Amino acid sequence: MTEIHELIVKIKKQNKNIMEQIDWANLGFGYIKTDFNIRCTYSNGQWGELEVHDTEYISLHIAATSLHYGQEAFEGLKAYRGQDGKIRIFRMDENAKRMQDSCSGILMAKLPVEKFEQAVIKAVKLNERFVPPYESGASLYVRPLLIGSGAQIGVKPATEYMFIIFVTPVGPYFKGGFQTTPFVIMREYDRSAPLGMGKYKVGGNYAASLVAGQRAHEMGYSNIFYLDAKEKKYIDECGAANFFGIKNNTYITPQSASILPSITNRSLMVLAAELGLKVEQRQVPVEELDTFDEAGACGTAAVLSPIERIHDFDEKKSYIFSHDGKPGPICDKLYHKLRAIQYGDEADNHGWITVVE
Ligand code: PLP
Ligand code: COI
Repeated sequence: MTEIHELIVKIKKQNKNIMEQIDWANLGFGYIKTDFNIRCTYSNGQWGELEVHDTEYISLHIAATSLHYGQEAFEGLKAYRGQDGKIRIFRMDENAKRMQDSCSGILMAKLPVEKFEQAVIKAVKLNERFVPPYESGASLYVRPLLIGSGAQIGVKPATEYMFIIFVTPVGPYFKGGFQTTPFVIMREYDRSAPLGMGKYKVGGNYAASLVAGQRAHEMGYSNIFYLDAKEKKYIDECGAANFFGIKNNTYITPQSASILPSITNRSLMVLAAELGLKVEQRQVPVEELDTFDEAGACGTAAVLSPIERIHDFDEKKSYIFSHDGKPGPICDKLYHKLRAIQYGDEADNHGWITVVE
């Protein structure tokens, strides 16, 4: 046996208990240890080879720029097991390109798209047994991250970087899966500045959202609903997901320089147009919430999470989109269409799927 095959056999045996304890149908959005992670390091101006690791820990210099100055970017994508047993990965080239954008935003070395894709496939293949069964409705969450690992004490970019991909099986991000949930507007919190980092997937934005997120959860909301930080006039996004509203057979989603360009949202815009809806991406004034028949949050983790209501904490009023807790008809159609493509129940006519051979 080759060295890697011996390692695979050893680690699988070692992690047998973890596997056996997974309740596939009742997974939440949490971390479960899997067998292997993939790494690649950048030094002397170039990226090295992909490495396979079985430890969940890294050894990092105490002066690494990721620890002090926030040189960190991450991504999130999913792999799905179809009814045919095949594993499909959704739009990983888009995640690769977005990670490059994030790297431009905080001056980190960019990983080539092809290397990113090879690493994703390797991570999924080596942890294949953690891809949930089709019937469970769960999926394998793939988390790439890229960090400044080189030492620096002045506020300057590192000269060394580390790219890591780990995977973990997940269920729904919001409790209950495809059900409506409430959001809350609280103007005292922003996640990013008007000309800041909101359009990049960098760790600092998420640190900036923790207090607001916790407050929203304590008040019984699934997350905070952000308005633009400059004027508090237009809708930005819903926690770690983009927003869309539906009215007059139109899918409307905010255009803003401080929100993350969601790959899910872009896919839903295509599917909405194919379903015969008009699609508008533009500034959406907060008062327009009153006019939507349906509204939703969308993202890799959130998939399509229909919104029950948005409570405006400062103005003491609520915008209600569902009176019976059920998703509206357009949300329902879009959700099932997207899932059908991701799980391979419907043909992929857009080149969005990579089947893992
Ligand atoms: N907005 C934020 C802030 C996010 O963290 C995410 C998650 O990735 C999204 C939107 C949705 O983006 P995507 O659909 O590419 O996962
Ligand atoms: C995703 O949807 O992949 C995200 O990154 C959301 C996350 C921060 C949990």
